[in-house]
Amino acid sequence: MHADIVVLPGDGIGPEIVSATLPVLETIARRHGHAFAFREHDIGGIAIDRHGEPLPATTLEAAKQADAVLLGAVGGPKWSDPNAKVRPEQGLLAIRKGLGLFANLRPVRPHPAALGASPIKPELLEGVDIVVVRELTGGIYFGDKTRSDTDATDLCRYTVAEIERVVRSAATLARSRRGHLTSVDKANVLETSRLWRDVTTRVMREEFADVTVEHQLVDSMAMHLLSKPRAYDVVVTENMFGDILTDEASMLAGSLGLLASASLGAGKVGIYEPIHGSAPDIAGKGIANPYATILSAALLLRHSLGLEEEAQAVEHAVDRALDDRVFTADLAAPGQAVSTADAAQAVIDRLGA
Ligand code: NAI
Ligand code: MG
Repeated sequence: MHADIVVLPGDGIGPEIVSATLPVLETIARRHGHAFAFREHDIGGIAIDRHGEPLPATTLEAAKQADAVLLGAVGGPKWSDPNAKVRPEQGLLAIRKGLGLFANLRPVRPHPAALGASPIKPELLEGVDIVVVRELTGGIYFGDKTRSDTDATDLCRYTVAEIERVVRSAATLARSRRGHLTSVDKANVLETSRLWRDVTTRVMREEFADVTVEHQLVDSMAMHLLSKPRAYDVVVTENMFGDILTDEASMLAGSLGLLASASLGAGKVGIYEPIHGSAPDIAGKGIANPYATILSAALLLRHSLGLEEEAQAVEHAVDRALDDRVFTADLAAPGQAVSTADAAQAVIDRLGA
């Protein structure tokens, strides 16, 4: 197949991890007979420097025309002045909104060789394989806000259509995995959560009779996620609960440098990026862990291009590099670390024939 991939390296370690990942995609294309065209554009701090805004119209337009977007990370001390009119992170929110991306997927699958890096007991982590699907465009983060001298309000609103579409995405994913969906809400207190639960129950009954669904209250879910993480397959939840639970879930995997994400909408174009930031403390040294970005590229192959076999080839190659303890500095014992480029090459070497 032919695919147009917009590449947004961004700031800090972004350009390093993205340029380590493109050869992995190029190798996949060559081996499997595909043609991937990479078109690089600016986002974040670099876009502020070059164009005066964190998301230039040319970048958004290119992303809309593309099959998928691969993003590094944005931000850094240079653009962090609290009084600044524009900030790099605004570019991320604007591109997600501009592309109508309403479902944020974060797979958490701790690798045996990296279990020691997690603060959770290794025996609880073995076999954990969860995808958290966070609703990305509704809820309290986007509701009307008021502020007076004596009080403030944030409105939490969800429409039936917003709940239906993210539940369908999550249930479709569950169907392709172990067939189990956990929906997280606070239906004992919140009206939006009661709507969430009613809509989820109906969509699952009418459209996904083959997928089992379980409802969990968010407070007990916060506990179960750490005490019995193996019990979960796909977890779907609203925006704020998802924000909190995905950070919690990331601790199961140890290093930030291993966690990928996909942001998906109704169309095929999605944004694929590591969950970590631009890591200014290690930028420019060539020591950042590229695995989270490479695993994000695997999600790109799976979700935007429909190339499941190729996605698995990349994931297996990263697994094998970790099996062989090809570790960057965030995972390695002192003196044992490889560079960003060497870690990426180790993945390419393990892609198979
Ligand atoms: P961060 O995720 O950039 O870094 C946290 C710590 O993890 C640092 O010590 C860093 O060196 C380390 N780290 C992160 N990624 C790594 C990798 N691939 N390999 C090895 N070590 C890695 O978070 P921080 O420091 O809070 O934020 C730095 C900048 O990134 C800020 O400007 C922040 O706003 C921005 N940011 C951007 C995000 C994005 O683009 N999606 C997400 C989070 C933060
Ligand atoms: Mg967050």
